[in-house]
Amino acid sequence: MLTLGVLGSGKGSNLGAILAAMDAGGLPGVRVGVVVSDVAHAGILGLAAARGLPAHHLPPGRFKTKLEPGVEQHLAALLRAHGVNLVVLAGFMRLVKEPLLTAFPRRIVNIHPSLLPAFPGLRAWEQALAAGVREAGCTVHLVDAGVDTGEILGQARVPIEPGDTPEALHARIQAAEHRLYPGVIAGFAALTKDG
Ligand code: GRF
Repeated sequence: MLTLGVLGSGKGSNLGAILAAMDAGGLPGVRVGVVVSDVAHAGILGLAAARGLPAHHLPPGRFKTKLEPGVEQHLAALLRAHGVNLVVLAGFMRLVKEPLLTAFPRRIVNIHPSLLPAFPGLRAWEQALAAGVREAGCTVHLVDAGVDTGEILGQARVPIEPGDTPEALHARIQAAEHRLYPGVIAGFAALTKDG
């Protein structure tokens, strides 16, 4: 069984896509063990609660871009307590550090709204528009100590249309994310034996 621990800070549309894929029978052997957010009233927590999934707000501590080490230690223990064997970052707006990286080696994945290695960091769709490229997309990658630098597991491409606004491009990328992420998770499930 592949047990997901889903971390997010926002509306949770990627969690919604994963749950929809599960409902449609597209992710056999996959369950969501727990959903955690650093934002108290994030949509992702409401979505989890509405589905009867364990949903936790984790006060992040005094930093803006990462969790305090003690908080991250607590998070690793929480994920373990829910049997998590794949940590899924779905719009989690904090960098993952130690001790979480070591607690889940090669078992933390992230989705990023660009064709990495192009446009790491924040608001990648705006970076793509500003650069004048003709194609954008999204990437699922393993999380390492860098910012959007880990091994690439899957990508999906979308066109940039003439006159695209940031909002229109972001929506097109998000629709691609919602197809890509469940597919990559299915790949992990195929590697994960029962027991
Ligand atoms: C996604 O666009 C993803 O690329 C980025 O954060 C966003 C999360 O959206 N990392 P949602 O909360 O899953 O709707």
